[in-house]
Amino acid sequence: MSVPVLTIDGPSGSGKGTVARLLAQRLGWHLLDSGALYRITALAAQRRGIDLHDAVAIAGLAAHLDVSFVGEDETCVRLDGEDVSLQIRSEQAGEAASVVAAHPLVRAALLDFQRRFAQAPGLVADGRDMGTVVFPQAKVKIYLDASAEVRGERRYKQLNEKGLDANLTQIVDDIRRRDERDMQRAVAPLKAAD
Ligand code: DC
Repeated sequence: MSVPVLTIDGPSGSGKGTVARLLAQRLGWHLLDSGALYRITALAAQRRGIDLHDAVAIAGLAAHLDVSFVGEDETCVRLDGEDVSLQIRSEQAGEAASVVAAHPLVRAALLDFQRRFAQAPGLVADGRDMGTVVFPQAKVKIYLDASAEVRGERRYKQLNEKGLDANLTQIVDDIRRRDERDMQRAVAPLKAAD
């Protein structure tokens, strides 16, 4: 019998990460934060001095990433054994992730890795293409959306709570730019599944 998968896709800051984590906890299922994989890929590339537009080099890197999700709710992210959970959450890390995620080769390199998260008793998968490309067989597919303004305010509050500097207008502009890139790319663009 195949493992049940529930997908939650949507744009940056819509709250899908929070909902996915709570659902996985409630159901006792595994969690896949696919955005974290793109964030980590970008971080690994930057650490090695690889240009974010060098699709071949980044795909090679993505295929051999030493990444693990640990902790009780699988939200602590390690790259090469180092905890990078906080580092990958910055706005710059999200922007860099969106750039590497637009390369078809990079997406292909991460595909099997993501599918291997479908383990018993079930998986909650959060991202942009979970219901459309990675787990098209999922029985439950959620598309979680909100206006750029509402998502920007949410991000702004989160950054403030962490004591980080934030500018609301800038955040909303960045969100719009990222939406545009994630929705317009040729491969696995952000869109609701059928
Ligand atoms: O969900 P997030 O903000 O952590 O995602 C960061 C970037 O990664 C996002 O701008 C686009 C990319 N991404 C993707 O292309 N496909 C996914 N399934 C998840 C994220």
